[in-house]
Amino acid sequence: VSIRPDRSRSKKIGDLLVGAFFEDINYAADGGLYAELIQNRDFEYHPSDREYRDQSWNHQKAWTASGAGTVLTIDSTAPIHPNNNHYAVLRTGGSGGALSNEGFDGIAVKAGERYDLSLFVRSLTGRGVKLTARLMDKDGAVIASAVVSGPATAWRKQTAVLTAAKTVADARLELALPPGATVALDMISLFPRKTFKGRKNGLREDLAQSIADLHPRFIRFPGGCVAHGDGIENIYNWKNTIGPLEARKPQRNLWGYHQSMGLGYFEYFRFCEDIGAQPVPVVAAGVPCQNSGLHGHPLGGQQCGIPLKDMDSYIQDVLDLVEWANGDVHTKWGKARAAAGHPEPFHLKYIGIGNEDLISDVFAERFTMIYNAVKKKYPEITVIGTVGPFFEGTDYEQGWKLATELRVPVVDEHYYVAPGWFIYNQDFYDKYDRSKSKVYLGEYAAHLPGRPNNLETALAEAIHLTTLERNGDVVQMASYAPLLAKEGHTQWSPDLIYFNNSTVKPTTGYYVQQLFGRHAGDVYIPATALYSDNNEKVRNRVAWSLVQDTKSGDLVLKLVNLLPVSVSVTTDLAGFRLAQRVQKTVLQGNPADRALVPVEATVSLKEAEKMTLEPYSFTVVRVKQQ
Ligand code: AHR
Repeated sequence: VSIRPDRSRSKKIGDLLVGAFFEDINYAADGGLYAELIQNRDFEYHPSDREYRDQSWNHQKAWTASGAGTVLTIDSTAPIHPNNNHYAVLRTGGSGGALSNEGFDGIAVKAGERYDLSLFVRSLTGRGVKLTARLMDKDGAVIASAVVSGPATAWRKQTAVLTAAKTVADARLELALPPGATVALDMISLFPRKTFKGRKNGLREDLAQSIADLHPRFIRFPGGCVAHGDGIENIYNWKNTIGPLEARKPQRNLWGYHQSMGLGYFEYFRFCEDIGAQPVPVVAAGVPCQNSGLHGHPLGGQQCGIPLKDMDSYIQDVLDLVEWANGDVHTKWGKARAAAGHPEPFHLKYIGIGNEDLISDVFAERFTMIYNAVKKKYPEITVIGTVGPFFEGTDYEQGWKLATELRVPVVDEHYYVAPGWFIYNQDFYDKYDRSKSKVYLGEYAAHLPGRPNNLETALAEAIHLTTLERNGDVVQMASYAPLLAKEGHTQWSPDLIYFNNSTVKPTTGYYVQQLFGRHAGDVYIPATALYSDNNEKVRNRVAWSLVQDTKSGDLVLKLVNLLPVSVSVTTDLAGFRLAQRVQKTVLQGNPADRALVPVEATVSLKEAEKMTLEPYSFTVVRVKQQ
């Protein structure tokens, strides 16, 4: 292939192209990114969190009482807060007893590290008692211990620090009490002192870092389907996720587990700020998943949305979100943000309304109401609409029709397709009508049978990303989905980052996203290409894009080779005044490889101008201007 850039046709493209999509799916939040180590800390797990109302999934899930005659019960008569109305009552027997928590598949601790314990406790006997907190390994050996001050007769928050003597992947927390004690306990929490950026109520350091290392220009949250829920009562309500942890309202997660909401809107916005990404919250468009509630909801199949009489209040919630994020400290919601420790605004610029919804009349009516209200009160906010599922019926066309009528600035498209779709639809956005809404490709991934994330899928996505850069005047943002998956708790594959309690396992596809994130540009430089082979099948498996980052002035050439043979590429860079040393990064392997890592080298400009692309490879060349 011979590539000849044409600078005269350079065009400005959006500088937010590569972002991240965070959804609480696959235990991405509790037991995942949220650093809390205690499972069911609030005793709010309920059989209805699970399909078929699994009775073993109840208020006592992950907790065990031990000691002869010691009894654990759940009460709700005098809770700390009505949003979190269940708590444990532990009555110890004649030789004392204990309550222990298994964590999420065990509690991983590291020798020498400190862990912050906090809990709400109340003595029900009128007498103070000594409570001892311990971390135990699986053989019952104590690896950390601390005394928690004696409980009072009213709810009181107590804290202690546990320092682990040993590195253990599957410790448990034990709270031991003397004989004859009866105490109420709630919000029993254990956090590593080391969280991402040292934040309180923070994020798991290694996982958060792996997201930060993608260099995402934005983060979308809280979903996905989690945003619109699988029934009206399951729609994600951001107001339930802010404020003191004991006052947050936990909720059933439609992926079959429990959301503590400890990772809530404040934490999402703070994480975005910490890594320099734009926050992109997505609220439901007044309708749940497919306007009905799939996943066994009683209204499944029947169209439903928030009743029109309740829409004003729902719309107010959406407007309040903007005030909470951006309002000054004298506004009601700006004050709430300041009370949480962030008096400065979060500078929210985008808000998504709707997620992959069925484009029905029920949807259109509610979307229009919310959209008009946001536009009127906050014209400076860019609303991202949705055009429904891509390959199902006529939703996509209907979605575009509505967005065009309403002149929605950006619409969210989703598609999970075979690698072949990406290979054969490289002109997909070339053909887009530039006068219509811009696109946020909010969810996409290449899917193969068995759903691996391997070099074949990663290269197909890389091909697609080169077409997104080429069409960066239309496609302003894109995020691979889903982002995180905990081993053993994966409802959806493939994902970008797999993890367990102690290890983070980025996929091959992760590195493609990272290379596009790290080497983004804000100017696209078109090029003409001459092929020595005219076979369309061959040509479609080689793709490139050339961008410039105007801040650094650097030029970035990305080249994808999805062929089983090497390809010679000559790029004519004579029209640029470039440095003689060039950074070259190559991701290469066999199509089925799942754990490849890119290799970086410094080469001469000459070598970069005349390169051999390895079979099945993705190459990024970054050149400084002279
Ligand atoms: O990314 C997983 C799911 O795929 C999302 O929750 C939903 O929006 C889509 O169907």
